[in-house]
Amino acid sequence: MNRRRALTLFVNTTVALIGGGLTAVLGAFAFRPSRGADTARWVRAGAVADLEPHVPVPRVLSISRQDGWYRQRARETVFLVWDGDTTVHALSATCTHLGCQVRWDADSTTFRCPCHGGVFGPDGAVVEGPPSRPLDRVDARIESAGAAGADVMTVMVRL
Ligand code: FES
Repeated sequence: MNRRRALTLFVNTTVALIGGGLTAVLGAFAFRPSRGADTARWVRAGAVADLEPHVPVPRVLSISRQDGWYRQRARETVFLVWDGDTTVHALSATCTHLGCQVRWDADSTTFRCPCHGGVFGPDGAVVEGPPSRPLDRVDARIESAGAAGADVMTVMVRL
C-alpha cells in the first residue's frame, strides 16, 4: 500500500465514522418518542383550616411544566372556595378574555378583572364586560394528610 492509498483510506474512514455518528445522533432525536406536554397532576394547595366557608381564597402555586424538550416552572393562581363541609371548588384566576389575573372583590362578591372591566360571579360566570366565557374550573378535592393521629385536611388541585 502506497502513501496516497493509505491517506485516501484514512480520510474515507474518518468521513464514514463522522457521518455514521451524526446519523446515529439525528436518528435518536427523530425516532425517540418525544415527551408531549405534561399531563395535569395533583398539587397541594393548602390546608382547609386556612379557608373560610364560601369565601374565595387565592393560592399561588408553582408547578413544573414540560413540553417536548422544554421544561419550565410556572405560577398558577387559583381561587379555592370551600363549602364549609367536605367540598372545595377551585377557579382559575386567569381572565378568559385576554388572560389578566382577576381579583376577588369582597364588597360586591364578584371577581373583577383590572384590564378591561370583566366581572365574574362567585361561581365564575360572566356578569359583565368583554369575557365571553366563565372562569375556568380547576379540579379540586380534599385529602386527609395526617401523620400519627394529627389529621390535616389538605386541598389538592389538578393543574
Ligand atoms: S383581560 Fe380580563 S377583561 Fe380583558
